Amino acid sequence: MRLANKVAIITGAGSGMGRTTAILFAIEGAKVAVADISQQGVEETVKEITAKGGQAIALRCDVSKTDDVERMVAATVERFGPPTVLYNNAGIEGEASYLSKMSEEAFDQVIAINLRGVFLGMKYVIPHMVKAGGGSIVNQASIAGLIGIPGGAHYAAAKAGVIAMTRVAAVEYGRYNIRVNCICPGAIETPMAVRIRKGAPPLSRCASITSTFTSKTVSRAPPSIRRISTTRPDASKGRFIFRCRPTPRCRVWRCTSTAISWKAAWSSAIMVEPSSSRSSRR
Ligand SMILES: NC(=O)c1ccc[n+]([C@@H]2O[C@H](COP(=O)([O-])OP(=O)(O)OC[C@H]3O[C@@H](n4cnc5c(N)ncnc54)[C@H](O)[C@@H]3O)[C@@H](O)[C@H]2O)c1
Repeated sequence: MRLANKVAIITGAGSGMGRTTAILFAIEGAKVAVADISQQGVEETVKEITAKGGQAIALRCDVSKTDDVERMVAATVERFGPPTVLYNNAGIEGEASYLSKMSEEAFDQVIAINLRGVFLGMKYVIPHMVKAGGGSIVNQASIAGLIGIPGGAHYAAAKAGVIAMTRVAAVEYGRYNIRVNCICPGAIETPMAVRIRKGAPPLSRCASITSTFTSKTVSRAPPSIRRISTTRPDASKGRFIFRCRPTPRCRVWRCTSTAISWKAAWSSAIMVEPSSSRSSRR
């Protein structure tokens, strides 16, 4: 069991990638605090974990609200002890529209959940990790934080903010043995993806997550990623576990290679993030 003795808080764990990760972490031995704004969602995830013999608690939490986040952390500490893993995954897609037509409410809501929520998660968990002698944080960014996606000014700004905040947190807390990474998934088949497509089936292989991705655009991506991924606990989730299992004296921040590949496909100016070997700092 690669995550034995770990206490993991996973936000947005009532659905999609958060739920899959919570189940996978529990199977790998972590005690999991399953947090989500949806009470039904967290209860269903915990039921699934318990049925597989794992340990988990269901916590209703709106990640954009300070009181909720403080309560989520306190309840985890009380039940399982200090969190050593935090997956800041909760997020919404928001209402899609071009910038000049976007309502200020829609903008504020996405920033509150997708960016402030990640900030609050780190703010209230990090002191426990420092006391515990270390930990691992994974923030959920997106390919949208690296490229321009029409109709998603709020979403892209929030995810770019998550990438920036991840870098800062990694630099600030590396000395406390806390690793901070973010991941930048492309299109993943989850309830969010289905909502964005308004229920339409994904296009085969050359699928796009939004109607604003034309097949011409997608065809510029490397062949290996011209597809929608699923949330099966597969190889990519294995890489995820790598970021959360014990690797003392090593802190890493980087975006996933998938995102880097996308960036490369979209622009001749490839954003060079440290590769896995070069980014391990002691
Ligand atoms: N699906 C994709 O293609 C994709 C791609 C890149 C990034 N992402 C990001 O991955 C994360 C998970 O998305 P998903 O695709 O699994 O979607 P999802 O809708 O299946 O899951 C998101 C979960 O977050 C929860 N949530 C929403 N607002 C919340 C709040 N205020 N407080 C707590 N929980 C809240 C929802 O209830 C839901 O359970 C999001 O941050 C999303 O932006 C998704």
